[in-house]
Amino acid sequence: MSDRETWTTRLGFILASVGSAVGLGNIWRFPFQTATNGGAAFLFVYLVAVVVIGLPAILAEFVVGRRAEMDAIGAFDELGHPGWRAVGALGVFAGFWTLSYYSVVGGWVIRYIGQAAMGSYGSNPKVFFGNVSAGPEAVALHALFMLLAVGIVAFGIEGGIERATKVMVPAIILILVGLVGYGASLSGAGEAYDYFLTPDFGVIVANAPSVIPAAVGQALFSLSLGFAVMITYASYIDGDESLPVDGLSIAVTNTAIGILAGLVVFPLLFTQGVGPDTSGPGAVFIALPTALADFGAAGRVVGVAFFVVILIAALSSAISLLEVAVSYLVDTHGFERKRTTAVLGVLLFLLGIPSAWDTAWLSWFDSIAVNLLLPVAVLLLVLFVGWVLAPDAVDELRIGSGDSFDDLAPLWLWSLRTVVLLAVLVTVALSVTDLTGAPV
Ligand code: PFF
Repeated sequence: MSDRETWTTRLGFILASVGSAVGLGNIWRFPFQTATNGGAAFLFVYLVAVVVIGLPAILAEFVVGRRAEMDAIGAFDELGHPGWRAVGALGVFAGFWTLSYYSVVGGWVIRYIGQAAMGSYGSNPKVFFGNVSAGPEAVALHALFMLLAVGIVAFGIEGGIERATKVMVPAIILILVGLVGYGASLSGAGEAYDYFLTPDFGVIVANAPSVIPAAVGQALFSLSLGFAVMITYASYIDGDESLPVDGLSIAVTNTAIGILAGLVVFPLLFTQGVGPDTSGPGAVFIALPTALADFGAAGRVVGVAFFVVILIAALSSAISLLEVAVSYLVDTHGFERKRTTAVLGVLLFLLGIPSAWDTAWLSWFDSIAVNLLLPVAVLLLVLFVGWVLAPDAVDELRIGSGDSFDDLAPLWLWSLRTVVLLAVLVTVALSVTDLTGAPV
């Protein structure tokens, strides 16, 4: 165990975790979730969900990972609860499943960068999206995206993930801030800000049964919870830093980047009168190109910058999903990292082919991941940390946090056992009824 890698700095761990959290979920999923669920009202409920549910849950994963210093499945043996290995196994499986189609969307983004540079998305962006998103070309781009992820993870924690995310996360922030500046100069900015930032609480009250689970689901997905990423990343922490401070930094940065993305997307859409497309994936891949096509040369620059940000964000999340499975095979089975990463890349490519061939499969994979695997995995984790690991978990959370956190640790445990448990139970119940049938 002594030769197990660790992050070289605390900031390295934080940036890698932010890199995982900030992904397609913030830039692709968040704007259309906001648009479908009532604009600013959704944003408000999402913010509450991040603080009340996301933060305690991310700390639960951190505590397991740092205490065990082991991959997400082996961690449960290490902590003396081998019967709970299934929780880790579900996380590893869910992450693998998710990466297979996440990579397909990553492939689309690569294609859109090239297209944005040329400033044209065909005569009809909707038809163009249809052609790009499914079929042989999508399969090839999915392979290319997987190759990029494998190329980073093969080099391990310090030389691969830490080194890459140290550049990627600042790049995401810088480019987004520039784009927000451009968005602010557009004529539709005022209307867009109003839509995005001024909540109509009537909407929340009227649509609570759908808005609340959507916001909780988005908070969990966005913080990369449930798929054992935060267990795995925390297992590489070398030191007694304060986990609550780390968790808070990650959650705040992740949320801020989601909001920045909204401040870019909505002004563009409102200025062109495109309106937030509520057709799901189309929000970014159809509505935005429609808007950009009318901005001439500026549209090209903005388009390239925007899709580059999405690509970096997607890649820094994909590597975290890949690392979960790699670390399991390396830690528990003693496999060699480079070869393991390459083999997993091939398997993920194969698993993603149906999603790349037909977006109906992609939607099905996504629905199983987000509506079933994710909430069930978080539920099991909450039960484990809240009741089985409980006293050790509180001890672990206190490490490095100083006396001021003495009251916080029991409060955290209490919140896991009550608010978080309840919210996740409701999410499981509601989202399982929302599963998409397999397109066969
Ligand atoms: N948090 C990522 C996003 O918002 O796109 C998605 C994700 C990555 C979810 C890793 C879960 C995960 F384990």
